[in-house]
Amino acid sequence: MKNIIPHNFQVSKADRNQSNKHNSFLMWFTGLSGSGKSTIANVVEQELHKKRIKTYILDGDNIRKGINSDLSFSPKDRTENIRRIAEISNLMVDAGIVVLAAFVSPYKKDRENIKKIVKDVNFVEVYINTSIEECERRDVKGLYEKARKGEIKNMTGISAPYEAPENPDIEINTERETVEESAIKILDFLTLKLQYTNE
Ligand code: ADX
Repeated sequence: MKNIIPHNFQVSKADRNQSNKHNSFLMWFTGLSGSGKSTIANVVEQELHKKRIKTYILDGDNIRKGINSDLSFSPKDRTENIRRIAEISNLMVDAGIVVLAAFVSPYKKDRENIKKIVKDVNFVEVYINTSIEECERRDVKGLYEKARKGEIKNMTGISAPYEAPENPDIEINTERETVEESAIKILDFLTLKLQYTNE
């Protein structure tokens, strides 16, 4: 951008990671509404917090009430939703925080864009694979029923697409694995990723 010259601040991400004694990165949970993204992220965060790891959860329902309250569920607004969250996550990762982000994020190109913003090495993709049938059966928020009645437009899985990740770092099948089993699987994966090495 013209006339914007970034300042080189002297305390770096590496400095912060070193003093926190762990790496910081973005863990991105994608899946249908009601698939269990926030539930699983919540258990993972509690375990990380016990280990004194600095964490923060961003999720669709809280972000869309605040900074993204101007956005709808049209494809264009979902793209903007994900872009802003990726930029916020990027700042938080630079600040030394392990960010757990739980968003439907149905479009592959939007998830690819997150990787570009935060860089590949700072991105862990977790696919919470719960079928639309199961999400609709659970219907925790009653949204699927409303979507079937035509009261909600662009409902992911009903009247809007969900493009499943082909190569996620971790895939959880919530119809076969419990929340605890899922959290253990994710925490195991993170052990190495969290280790800060001063190269
Ligand atoms: S995203 O597609 O832009 O990534 P996001 O994760 O922020 O979606 O928000 C999804 C949440 O908004 C869902 O969990 C659900 O509670 C609610 N919601 C309301 N309308 C819709 C809709 N049309 N499609 C999907 N989720 C919806």
